[in-house]
Amino acid sequence: MSKRYRKGELVIDALKQVELSLDKGQLIAVSGPSGSGKSTLLNLIGLLDQPSAGTIELFGKRCESLNRAERQRMRRKYLGFIFQNFNLLPVLNAVENVELSLYGHALSKEKMRETALNMLRQVGLLNRAYHYPRELSGGQQQRVGIARALVHQPRLVMADEPTANLDTKSATDIIELMRLLSHEIGTTFLVSTHDPRLLKNMDREVTLTDGVLLS
Ligand SMILES: Nc1ncnc2c1ncn2[C@@H]1O[C@H](COP(=O)(O)OP(=O)(O)OP(=O)(O)O)[C@@H](O)[C@H]1O
Ligand SMILES: [Mg+2]
Repeated sequence: MSKRYRKGELVIDALKQVELSLDKGQLIAVSGPSGSGKSTLLNLIGLLDQPSAGTIELFGKRCESLNRAERQRMRRKYLGFIFQNFNLLPVLNAVENVELSLYGHALSKEKMRETALNMLRQVGLLNRAYHYPRELSGGQQQRVGIARALVHQPRLVMADEPTANLDTKSATDIIELMRLLSHEIGTTFLVSTHDPRLLKNMDREVTLTDGVLLS
């Protein structure tokens, strides 16, 4: 697939005929310098944006012809997202942030709460369930982010520089947690990173240079 951005006169080929297939349950790193297209790639595979050319197939389904609502349904059901800046909603506490991923899954309120608390336990934050994001450390916020990304048991999680804003100890914990959960739940992780601490713990690394992918 390819992605071309246009900004006035400027044409940017952010991804140039990238071909990538992901194996189930793997932790795959996308490395490459700033501006090489990592976030663009994650956004396309995460159905947050559309390729200018080429196709994306997720779980046997061709995605380029899906409309907005269908893409959203795919995202809610099968995908999870972890962000560099955690992206928690400040007005919701930890467990409510995790529950955001469970809306549209036809669960009762009680079941939703139980499921979210259970996920917080798995990331070691049960005792912070009713804390607001501002009352949590960076590493704790990112663990809530991971809980939110995984609570609906997605098949594929996109993590865009998940450890960039964390100290070494928190970053190492986060990586360990992703590894553990990927093996336990069989989730595939696609993780963009510059972080050598993260790279050495991955099953596979692909590298982008100026929009070109080297596997
Ligand atoms: N919405 C957009 N409109 C125009 N150009 C864009 C847009 N988003 C990204 N670009 C350009 O596409 C290229 C790839 O950007 P991208 O954000 O994917 O890089 P990245 O590898 O994630 O970089 P970083 O490591 O700094 O996050 C860059 O040249 C960027 O300026
Ligand atoms: Mg980026």
